[in-house]
Amino acid sequence: MPDKNRAADFDGEVFLPSDDIIKSANIKEYSENYRRSIEDREGFWAEQAAQLEWYQPWDKVLDDSNKPFYKWFVGGKINIVHNAIDRHLKTWRRNKLAFIWEGEPGDVRTFSYHALNREVSQFANILRSMGVKKGDVVTIYMPQVPELVFAMLACAKIGAAHSVVYGGFSVEALAERIADAKSRVLVTADGGWRRGKVNDLKGIVDEAIRRSPTIESCIVTRRTGHEVYMESGRDFWLHDLKTLPIACSNGNCDTEQMDAEDPLFILYTSGTTGKPKGLVHTHGGYSVYTSTTHRYVFDIKDEDRWWCAADPGWITGHSYIVYGPLINGATIMLYEGAPNYPYPNRWWKMVEKYGITILYTSPTAIRGLMRFGDEWPRRYDTSSLRLLGSVGEPINPEAWRWYYEVVGQKRCPIMDTWWQTETGGFMITPLPVTPLKPGSATLPFFGNEVAVVDDKGHEVKPGEEGKLVIKSPWPGMARTIHRDPKRFVDTYWSQYKKQGWYTAGDSARRDKDGYYWIIGRIDDVLKVSGYRLGTAEIESALVSHPSVSEAAAIGLPHELKGNAIHTFVILKSGFSASPQLSEELRNHVSREVGAIAKPEDVTFVDSLPKTRSGKIMRRVLKAKALGEDVGDTSTLEE
Ligand code: WT7
Repeated sequence: MPDKNRAADFDGEVFLPSDDIIKSANIKEYSENYRRSIEDREGFWAEQAAQLEWYQPWDKVLDDSNKPFYKWFVGGKINIVHNAIDRHLKTWRRNKLAFIWEGEPGDVRTFSYHALNREVSQFANILRSMGVKKGDVVTIYMPQVPELVFAMLACAKIGAAHSVVYGGFSVEALAERIADAKSRVLVTADGGWRRGKVNDLKGIVDEAIRRSPTIESCIVTRRTGHEVYMESGRDFWLHDLKTLPIACSNGNCDTEQMDAEDPLFILYTSGTTGKPKGLVHTHGGYSVYTSTTHRYVFDIKDEDRWWCAADPGWITGHSYIVYGPLINGATIMLYEGAPNYPYPNRWWKMVEKYGITILYTSPTAIRGLMRFGDEWPRRYDTSSLRLLGSVGEPINPEAWRWYYEVVGQKRCPIMDTWWQTETGGFMITPLPVTPLKPGSATLPFFGNEVAVVDDKGHEVKPGEEGKLVIKSPWPGMARTIHRDPKRFVDTYWSQYKKQGWYTAGDSARRDKDGYYWIIGRIDDVLKVSGYRLGTAEIESALVSHPSVSEAAAIGLPHELKGNAIHTFVILKSGFSASPQLSEELRNHVSREVGAIAKPEDVTFVDSLPKTRSGKIMRRVLKAKALGEDVGDTSTLEE
């Protein structure tokens, strides 16, 4: 089966920026600026940090005395909310639109920076009144509504860390993340709209709280209005809390002064074991990194209307819907529902209606819209667009060309940004002035030294596949894994320990022009529709079913999703394979983990290929399914 989503287009065309793009670009030249940023990394980042407001300046830009636990802007005092909201209130931006939100049913709400501040301050006062304070972790499980953004900013404002759990995750995933964060307060909604149906978040929350003894209070936003269970003394409607005098306080709430290295949030992401990793990001370095990358890569201007069409519940949304853009004083767009609901014109209609100037989305969304044909975007005036962006997985050349030609009408360069939950922001990315090659994320961002190496750490030859490593620290890097620093070291910093490099978990090629081509994950992590899932999470959901003794999950190429999940199951004695059981198991995974994890199929088998130490060799299953050579099986048990 040819892998259509693999960008193999090596020496293909190069797309050069137009004169207009060069004229308006914030950064007009890459190479010289890059060279300077590497020669004086700390100087470069100090210059960027100086664009923010600090309560107290830092003593030291980078403290690398305890690698890999790097510290940035040590001694500095800052709060990301001071930069994302408070400082704008002192300028004309007070009355600028901070964000436009459209619900799936078509309802619209807009907020100026002034209005955003009132909402966030009220929410922050409510959290404070519930005893939330610096050092606590608040779990947020929400649909894509404005209150999700308010809740995140409210936590940050009072110095609590937030842990946002994507609203598409289900009971087990939510309960597990609440337990790891030990949250006392949970913020949710009665539900959200998705394809005209209610996504019943509160029902999932009730079940998850039953498994989560730490939760004392649950704040519920009314969104869909359908009837939900509210437990007295535990569950509170946000609109009721907002009428309390404490919430009002004239819409004011002091922003907590934080150390640059204080945690801003925890975001859980899938790794190679079943237990998700809670990556910790900070107030200082993350503020600097997200705002700098957003400003230079997307060339952000005050006139822009920025739409990052991700869910705020993932890192893309944290960094480039909420924090980076608000720090840059941008107007952001947020949409609640499905791109093709009720018709495949939905996004293009919104681009026209709101005059969106920059659209940032994923290859899977582009492929999904592409299959409906060119007439949908062509029917709308999308001439406001000036830049496009892509993230989440390699973009295949067909999707790239459609995005470029049909959506951007050959006018808008595509910023294919490679990064991860762990990196906080863009790591390998073009700038608007960078010549583009479809399918390549192009070149490292300022300050970053990147390489493609073999297992020993030697750089591979141009065009050869190897492991992607980052050789130098950057301010947006995750500082640790929540309550598991050892796992942080083991996962990212142990393979090239001697050299002190960060291993991304991706394989890549670097071509003769120095351009990077990401191939994909080399660990037991799958990218399904751009979502990151661990094979272990799917497998543990399967074995939690009474009929399953052992299970294995692999990803196989899929035209729309990039990868699709295929599973292999050994049944316990007394159970027999049937189409009904297969269906039940697929639904079971969907219920436990979330709809995005629902396997394409379940194959019942008598045994699984394992190493002598008992590890499942997913590589062998995958090669067999693709009809490829299974390769070296010397460690195979039988
Ligand atoms: C993994 C990280 C970073 C926000 C979204 C995903 C893959 C990400 C690209 C890209 C090729 C990409 C990598 C990476 N990935 N962007 N532009 N080209 N692959 O964050 O969920 O932490 O996933 O996504 O495999 O390791 P994430």
